[in-house]
Order: sequence, then C-alpha cells, then structure tokens
Amino acid sequence: MSKSQIQIFDTTLRDGEQVPGCKLNTEQKVTIAEQLDLLGVDVIEAGFPISSPGDFSSVSAVSEVVKNATVCGLTRAVEKDIEVAAEAVRNAKKPRIHTGIGTSDSHIKFKFQATREEILERAFRAVKYAKSFVEDVEFYAEDAGRTENEYLARVCEQAIKAGATVLNIPDTTGYCLPNEYGAKIKYLKENVKGIENAILSCHCHNDLGLATANSIEGVIQGARQIECTINGIGERAGNTALEEVVMVLKQHPYLDLDTRVNTTLLYETSQMVSQHMGIYTQPNKAIVGSNAFAHSSGIHQDGVIKNRETYEIIDPKDVGVTESAIVLTARSGRAALAYRAKKVGYELTKLQLDEVYANFLNFADRKKEIKDNDIHQIIETSKVFDQIVSA
Ligand code: KIV
Ligand code: ZN
Repeated sequence: MSKSQIQIFDTTLRDGEQVPGCKLNTEQKVTIAEQLDLLGVDVIEAGFPISSPGDFSSVSAVSEVVKNATVCGLTRAVEKDIEVAAEAVRNAKKPRIHTGIGTSDSHIKFKFQATREEILERAFRAVKYAKSFVEDVEFYAEDAGRTENEYLARVCEQAIKAGATVLNIPDTTGYCLPNEYGAKIKYLKENVKGIENAILSCHCHNDLGLATANSIEGVIQGARQIECTINGIGERAGNTALEEVVMVLKQHPYLDLDTRVNTTLLYETSQMVSQHMGIYTQPNKAIVGSNAFAHSSGIHQDGVIKNRETYEIIDPKDVGVTESAIVLTARSGRAALAYRAKKVGYELTKLQLDEVYANFLNFADRKKEIKDNDIHQIIETSKVFDQIVSA
C-alpha cells in the first residue's frame, strides 16, 4: 500500500522570523528559501507582505527564485493585506495566499469586538477576495485550539464555500493536549460539509512542549499538512520543529505517512538557520542538537561501540550528521577510552588499558570533557607508555 503524503509547510521565514531580534534581510531570506526548496518542503511561507516594505521585497524575491515549492504570503482578513500579498507572490511558480481571522470567543470579543456571525462573514469575504487573485488559498482560524469545535466547523464550511484549498487549524497558544487536538481534526473531518474539497493543516505552538506531539496526532487523525519551522523557532516557545515531525514519520513507517523531505539535508539546514538568525540550538535539541548523537556514559558507550542501534534509533547519516560521537568524561568506561585512543593512533592491550584508564580518571575528574590532545597527554604520562604501539 502506498503511503499518504504529508505536505510540509515551512514557516521559518514568517512565524519563525517573529522571534525578537531574529529579523532576516532579503538576501538571507532568499538563501534560506533556496535551501528549503532543496530540502524538499512543499510550501514556503516567505513572510507577511503588508507588514513592512522590506518583507514585501523579501516575499517577492523568494517568489522569483524558488523552483519547486509553493510560495505563500500571510494576510489578515483585510482587503489591502490580500492585494499586497497577491502582488508579492505574483511571480511565484506556485503562489498561495494564506488569509484568516481569529475564531475563539476570546479573539472575537477582545480583538474584534465582533459577533460569531460577523466573523463567519469576514472569513468568507477574505477567502473569496484572495481567490480573485490566486487559485491556491489557505484559510487560518486563529486560536482554533481554543475555538469550540461546532463553531469552528461552521467557519471551515464558509472558507470552503468561498474556495479555500487548505484549512489551517492553529493551536496558536499551544494550549491543546494531543488527544484534544487530534479529536478536533477528527471532528472537522467528520462534520465539515465539503471537507473532501480541502485539506486540513496542523499549525501547533510549543508553549507546553506539545507542538510535535499535537501535529503528529493531527495527521494521524486525518490532517494532510504540517506547518513547522527549522529548529522549532518562533514566538514565545516556538513552533513545531520541522526536523522532528519529519523524522517521527520516517522512523514510524507503520503510520503510512510520508514526506518529500530529503532528511540528509536536515543538519546543514538547521545550522544555516541558526547562523543567520543568531540563535544557537540547545545541545539536547532532538535530531539537530550537538548532543543528539553523542554518548558519554560508560554503559551507553560500550553498547554503541558494539552496535549503534543499542542506544540510537536514528542513523546520524540519515539527518546529515557524519557519525555518532563518543564523548569522554569521568562517567566514561574503558571501551570508550580504547575506542577514542585508537582514533588518535594508539592500540592498547587489556593490561595497558587498565593502566591508562586509571590515569584517565584522574584527568577526567578535573576536566569536564577529555579532548584528543588530552588523550595524548594521558597516554604519554602513563607508566606503560613505552610499551604502547601505534594503531
Ligand atoms: O499561530 C497562528 O495562529 C498563526 C496564524 C497567523 C497562522 O501563526
Ligand atoms: Zn503561528
């Protein structure tokens, strides 16, 4: 049976760029967009064209260079926004306008001082207007995570009636639990008239650390697009991390869900985004953190040296990392020391290893991590140094 394709909608250049202090210029946005295209994402949300002349230029420039992916511009449900976005994506091979409005009672009451009926009408008009410029229109129901399902279904019906091709169901505040978010998607699949004419999209924020879990539950329940950012960057606690959802689907083939992403480019893409935005990725970040494939405790190291799969569920090469790292600390064992010593040129017998290991522990208790130059020093100051042969 062939797998269902999940569209990867990358919003690093829009939602991701909303991180304070991480604004990108046009040249940087173009460089990252070209890399995302190479990575194989299906949609690149390049910016919010009405927000500033610079962002308008960036979205236009990205539209010119992207070869394969759809290029998308964000708008509010406001005519002028839609006109400006339409102009910005005009030269894209596959243009999309992403328009929408807040649908939770809190947004309706406090942001718009409107009624539910008025929001239904504004949603319809915005999609209809966007449709007069481009065929591909995505509608977002902002704060859908806290919007009552019955009303959300009515909003979705209006958007489909007006011609929306994708319905984005954002958990804008990162509030939902995976089972609640999944149930929301299931409810919409089962109750929205005309849903067969559109696809549902997951857009989850990470305020409770649940963005990846929610997005995965969303696609299990029938959504066919995930909106995400490289390294999970985004406002507050960020968005769903692209590298996480892509690898979850790859590592769990029985879900029968697949993406077109070339996973071997994940690590270099992560590094590129981190450098341009000036945000360092936490070492323990899943998939792309510097410790994601590093082993430092003796028990784990011994297992990994015997067979990588004892403590790794992903082959580092699959995400573009050359090899697993055996890190030497005071918690490391003999197997790791022998392995690293061999890498820097020493073949140790069992007896020599015992001797060198005792010396190593004295060093390691004084240092956080033992590097290659320390290994030379440890071996050269061991009693058995004269007997050790080069590997
Ligand atoms: O989180 C959100 O609701 C959004 C929308 C503007 C799509 O980013
Ligand atoms: Zn968002």
